[in-house]
Amino acid sequence: MAVKLSGRSAVSPFIALDVLRAANERMMAGADVLHLEIGQPASPAPSRVLEAAKIALSEERLGYTDTLGIPALRKRIAEHYRETYGSEVDPDRVVVTAGSSAGFLLTFLAAFDPGDRVALASPGYPAYRNILQALGLEPVLIPCGGAERFQPTRALLQAAAPLDGLMLASPSNPTGTMLERSAFTEIVDYCRDAGVRLISDEIYHGITYGHETVTALALSDEAVIVNSFSKYFSMTGWRLGWLVLPPDMVRPVECLAQNLFISAHSLSQHAAISAFDCKEELNGHVARYARNRAMLLERLPAIGLSRLAPADGAFYVYADIAHLTNDSLDWCQRALAETGVAMTPGVDFDPVEGHRFVRLSFAGDGREIAAATERLADWIA
Ligand SMILES: Cc1ncc(COP(=O)(O)O)c(C=O)c1O
Repeated sequence: MAVKLSGRSAVSPFIALDVLRAANERMMAGADVLHLEIGQPASPAPSRVLEAAKIALSEERLGYTDTLGIPALRKRIAEHYRETYGSEVDPDRVVVTAGSSAGFLLTFLAAFDPGDRVALASPGYPAYRNILQALGLEPVLIPCGGAERFQPTRALLQAAAPLDGLMLASPSNPTGTMLERSAFTEIVDYCRDAGVRLISDEIYHGITYGHETVTALALSDEAVIVNSFSKYFSMTGWRLGWLVLPPDMVRPVECLAQNLFISAHSLSQHAAISAFDCKEELNGHVARYARNRAMLLERLPAIGLSRLAPADGAFYVYADIAHLTNDSLDWCQRALAETGVAMTPGVDFDPVEGHRFVRLSFAGDGREIAAATERLADWIA
């Protein structure tokens, strides 16, 4: 008799990672691949983090840590909020997680029950909706187009009511668009009035191009803040992130994390304390992203990709390619096969409209990105 597979595991793939696998397979077969599919800095972890990791390897036991994270790191993260935003945070509210990805799982489990409705902007980061679905929650996609700068508004949220939660990202992935303080405050006020749990994904803070960065922490005591060492801190593979929780969520999240993960990675935690003292090196990476961004914003229109989301922050250009295809998945597969340029189809981020969009990451090396635009120019022509 056939043994069953769970229905809950029938989630959509995270297509960017499928593209990465296909691109890596091509590279291993000897092909020349240019990676614009993945949101991953070309740089390694900052040098002081690498030094701290070497010391921790020789001097620390590197066993399990406190489930909530090693105290020195929780304290350093709390200090980061004072230094960066002028916000006071009790280190007891900080929970260290295995990347922000584990933070989403813990937050969704602690905040919601099966069947609860959680709103998210579409286009948006695909794992939000796929994790929600695997947990038996209802992702409520809020279509947000160029007119809304790809971010939800109070009116759109009201129209989607009743809601139990809202997942927000500013800067967002894939569009990079950011909420101004007034728009952010309006959404926070709506959530407070309507009893909606706000979860603010702030993973792209620090990677912005002249826009003010607002943390939900400064606007709400009820919001959950999700962040990570993956993007600004250039530490994707170290699998380390953090949450700042309302006090009443800390113990439930601790109990969940004890059972699900025991603790986040010990070596990464010891090393990451130094990450906050590497601003000069890290801001150098942001300057590189800014140059890559300027290059793409100049070159893409010249090859016919002129309808681009604003890219206020993060390291992505989300481009409308409706004049080239109605099937972004097929278009990206062909581009990879015929040019070696790996890109992520819009359907990863938006199941309804994404068939006519593509996301290009400019987190990588400038020369690779320049070469990619040349190959795409010839291919599109
Ligand atoms: C918006 C957003 N949130 C969260 C993540 C997950 O990051 P990590 O688990 O590495 O912290 C990503 C990764 O691309 C992202 O783009």
